[in-house]
Amino acid sequence: MNLIILGAPGSGKGTQAVRIKERYGLAHISTGDILRAEVASESELGLKAKAIMDAGQLVSDDIVLAMVGKRLAQSDCARGWILDGFPRTRAQAEGLETLLSDQDKEIDLGLLIQVKPDEVVRRLGGRRVNRQNGKIYSSEELAHLAGENGEIPAEGPAPEGEGTFYQRDDDKEATIRDRLTVYEAQTRPVIDFYQDLDKVVEVDGAQPMEVVSDALSSILRDRFGDGEQA
Ligand code: AP5
Repeated sequence: MNLIILGAPGSGKGTQAVRIKERYGLAHISTGDILRAEVASESELGLKAKAIMDAGQLVSDDIVLAMVGKRLAQSDCARGWILDGFPRTRAQAEGLETLLSDQDKEIDLGLLIQVKPDEVVRRLGGRRVNRQNGKIYSSEELAHLAGENGEIPAEGPAPEGEGTFYQRDDDKEATIRDRLTVYEAQTRPVIDFYQDLDKVVEVDGAQPMEVVSDALSSILRDRFGDGEQA
């Protein structure tokens, strides 16, 4: 099963992709996570990408396509994968089609999570990420840590008791708004691209996480059967 998860920044793509990956035994390929690992390792690519990401802009299509091509060739992708945060431009979508047709593969389905911009800004302002294992926390999960001003600290000990959480550099309100502008201008056409191929199903991402999760599971079950047997 080869899937794409689509939606605005903060719509819940990463949250839901991890659940689908676990249920179906897919490889979860998040270009944002790969780029953040490059930034953390201070590689040449990471040093180039950091300023672009901090500004809420997109890393070049050539770089991202090469990165994804390399990742898709790894052995854990043989059973299927879910792409998260990619493709993000029409050129990336077309490049992916070429890459996949060379391997005699195709996208089975695009899952589009719809959430309104104000909710995105609220969610991303309160999102924190576990530095050690990448786990994503919502502002609701960390509400008990909010100070008198109602704000959750940018860094602190993870609620599970091991490791620490941090706030992503691009989760500042001005950058979130820039990311949304980039999404509308450059990523909306990707949704049109897959809609024209009749490969997109939409879910209402404004509902609680578990409800979104159930809606996605039901779509996947109808098309591909139960997780273990798929
Ligand atoms: P990337 O990491 O892909 O960021 P994004 O697409 O902006 O998406 P996010 O990770 O911010 O949000 P999400 O939809 O995964 O939401 P999440 O599940 O965390 O990209 C970052 C940057 O890297 C880009 O700006 C660009 O510079 C570069 N980049 C990456 N890919 C690229 C590409 N292909 N080409 C070029 N450049 C690229 O949820 C958000 C929060 O909401 C969390 O706190 C979560 O707990 C909470 N939440 C989730 N679901 C719900 C719910 N139903 N109700 C309430 N809260 C919820």
